[in-house]
Amino acid sequence: MNTEELFNLRGKVACVTGASSGIGKHTATLLANNGVKVVGVARNQDLLNDWAKETEGHSSFVSVDLSKRSLIKDTVKKVTEIYGPPDILINAAGINTREHADDVTFDNWDKTIEINLSVPFFLSQAFVPEMQKKNWGRIINIASLQSRRAFPSGISYGASKGGVEQLTRAMAEAWSSHGIMVNSLAPGFFPTELTKTVFSNPVLFDKHAKQTCVGKNGCLTDLDGPIIFLSSDASKYVTGQILFVDGGFTAK
Ligand SMILES: NC(=O)c1ccc[n+]([C@@H]2O[C@H](COP(=O)([O-])OP(=O)(O)OC[C@H]3O[C@@H](n4cnc5c(N)ncnc54)[C@H](OP(=O)(O)O)[C@@H]3O)[C@@H](O)[C@H]2O)c1
Repeated sequence: MNTEELFNLRGKVACVTGASSGIGKHTATLLANNGVKVVGVARNQDLLNDWAKETEGHSSFVSVDLSKRSLIKDTVKKVTEIYGPPDILINAAGINTREHADDVTFDNWDKTIEINLSVPFFLSQAFVPEMQKKNWGRIINIASLQSRRAFPSGISYGASKGGVEQLTRAMAEAWSSHGIMVNSLAPGFFPTELTKTVFSNPVLFDKHAKQTCVGKNGCLTDLDGPIIFLSSDASKYVTGQILFVDGGFTAK
């Protein structure tokens, strides 16, 4: 296969959660710019609308609170009605409540596990039957440095992201014999709403940059190659893997 064929995404349909902001929004735009019809999913309708306008007719959106389990089935139906069943699912919606272990509440624990871990599984489970029919699918879960490393005030977030790593392997085991490759992309530090506390603190910013091998924190376009790779035929024998896109943070 030549490069063009390997990475060609033209005509595919994708569902990207967290498309109103940060990594999800960047990913959704990247896919739309590469000929994918993208349905973005998040709560904030205004932000989703602004994003969809930027993609000039290559996208649409469903505004929903994914933490409400009763809405998952209806969300999948709405997403599918727009461009047909997705070939690619990117599970990028996520939260970090940043509480010290002593202060973690039942409520924030449940919210974090729900949106970061349970939603990626149940959305995937709902989209998989149509991918199986085509014998082709790509699911990308967004993991984290905290899938493997402990950070201050990262108890519930770290537990959820550790879970995402194992969830990815278990989903691959369940579904990859049907042509569905399931992988995680684990970003280092990238500037988004979620990491404002890091990027607005010069001491933390420098500390994290120095921990990488390349000597700097990420910028969103650093994710482009890995996202296209994991979404395309180029990754047709890659599944159950966690790809750290962290400038070597976890290598040291
Ligand atoms: N930024 C980083 O450096 C970094 C590093 C490692 C991993 N990650 C992971 O990357 C993913 C994206 O994070 P980000 O940094 O891009 O953060 P972000 O800018 O805060 O985006 C989070 C997204 O999740 C959506 N979301 C949150 N709760 C939701 C809910 N209940 N229902 C539907 N959508 C919901 C938000 O949309 P609404 O508010 O509109 O609902 C938003 O689009 C997360 O899984 C995060 O853990 C980020």
